[in-house]
Amino acid sequence: MSRRPFVAGNWKMHKTAAEAAEFVGRLAARLPAEVDVALCPPFTALAEAAAAAAGLRIAIYAQNMHQAASGAYTGEISAEMILDTGAQGVLLGHSERRQLFGETDEGVNAKLAVAHEAGLWAIVAVGETEAEREAGETERVLRRQVEGALCDIGSDRVAETTIAYEPVWAIGTGRTATPAMAQAAHAEIRAILAELYGDEAAEAVRIQYGGSVKPDNAAGLFSEDEIDGGLIGGASLTVEDFSAILAAAVP
Ligand code: 13P
Repeated sequence: MSRRPFVAGNWKMHKTAAEAAEFVGRLAARLPAEVDVALCPPFTALAEAAAAAAGLRIAIYAQNMHQAASGAYTGEISAEMILDTGAQGVLLGHSERRQLFGETDEGVNAKLAVAHEAGLWAIVAVGETEAEREAGETERVLRRQVEGALCDIGSDRVAETTIAYEPVWAIGTGRTATPAMAQAAHAEIRAILAELYGDEAAEAVRIQYGGSVKPDNAAGLFSEDEIDGGLIGGASLTVEDFSAILAAAVP
């Protein structure tokens, strides 16, 4: 497979700045050369995490961003502010943002365009709820989210974007999609990308799986050829678990 594995840890609302820097320092000795690694600390820990990660192969991503350059948006931060912390990327459209904070496909699309323009790498998260899966709507939902998020983004930029497939019913529940289920959803996403942006761009996009990835199930998931790595929540909070998952991603 030509795509390099890419594993990111989404810390959600966990870790202070000091805890983030300590984590990065300890992870430094356990980075496999074959795997791209990112961490998504909360806003308050971005600068310290980025400083600690300087010169290491760990990219720092924010967990969200506002699409405006500045203005009366209480509680929000801009692409420029993320870059100002020393971070290099941003996670967009996480299901918690969609479900708890009203994030829409249109909003994710606007943020993605601004992130690319600013020179931030982006991971865009998509995934169906349990009710949608049971109603047989998984493909329709993934198509809506992928088309919506990537609308009017040029194929060169699509190729650089990472998609995280995170079935909502698998997040924080201990219920993981089986490798075969995840592989099928990733293949669907790649087919949608090929339809919209051509085979070359679609083949370049890395698609991470997220949802209860743990050291003991990571290797099975990563062995599927459409699964290019993972977006890890709970198991990214300890160096032991996260580095075991990184090791499982080595081809
Ligand atoms: P868990 O790994 O805790 O299920 O979280 C997945 C996730 O939402 C990562 O973004």
